[in-house]
Amino acid sequence: KYKACLFDLDGVLVDTAVYHFQAWKILGKHFNFELSHEQNEELKGISRVESLDKILHWAHFQATQEQKGRWLKEKNETYLELISHMNPSEILPGVISFLDQLKEQGYLIALGSASKNAGIILEKTGLTTWFNAIIDGNVVTKSKPDPEVFLKGAEALGCPATACIVFEDAQAGIDAAKAGGMKVVGVGSPTILRGADKVISSFTELQVSELLLL
Ligand code: G6P
Ligand code: MG
Repeated sequence: KYKACLFDLDGVLVDTAVYHFQAWKILGKHFNFELSHEQNEELKGISRVESLDKILHWAHFQATQEQKGRWLKEKNETYLELISHMNPSEILPGVISFLDQLKEQGYLIALGSASKNAGIILEKTGLTTWFNAIIDGNVVTKSKPDPEVFLKGAEALGCPATACIVFEDAQAGIDAAKAGGMKVVGVGSPTILRGADKVISSFTELQVSELLLL
């Protein structure tokens, strides 16, 4: 029934949201803005450029294009410094065992992330070799909730959308998967994530055999 699993990276395979949060908070000092946890939630799955636009909007701050360019670069430099120490221990619980089961049962595996830093994170955590295809922020032109990232993943794997299951922790990502005509498993809280076919709080709760029930 299903042939492929497409994984978001941040918040699904590894918890980088804490590093994005820290990096944005440090940047916010330039315009006296303290990002809240709730606001950080809204940045999940959203590209770097769009994240800055949202933050500046919340801060009621008008920035020039030139200023924005510098801040985007600065935020990423802080983020790169924060993730430079990442290692395999930061892979979220149950992920490796789940990927193992998928491989064993012949599923294809792709990454579908908005991050331009996905490659570095996969390398640092030793996850790269699990993937048959990697679609990240460097190859997509439209951000989630546009389905482009997942449609490109399905295409790279040679699978129709209906044979794909997406794993996502962000509402924008769940909406993207649905817009692409795919099944989607939300990773997080069922009270926050809307429209997923199933929500798990961690991969430790899920067996590959249960995917057939989707
Ligand atoms: C993921 C994260 C977002 C982040 C985006 C871009 O989708 O959930 O919070 O803004 O990637 O990441 P990047 O590493 O390119 O700044
Ligand atoms: Mg995510």
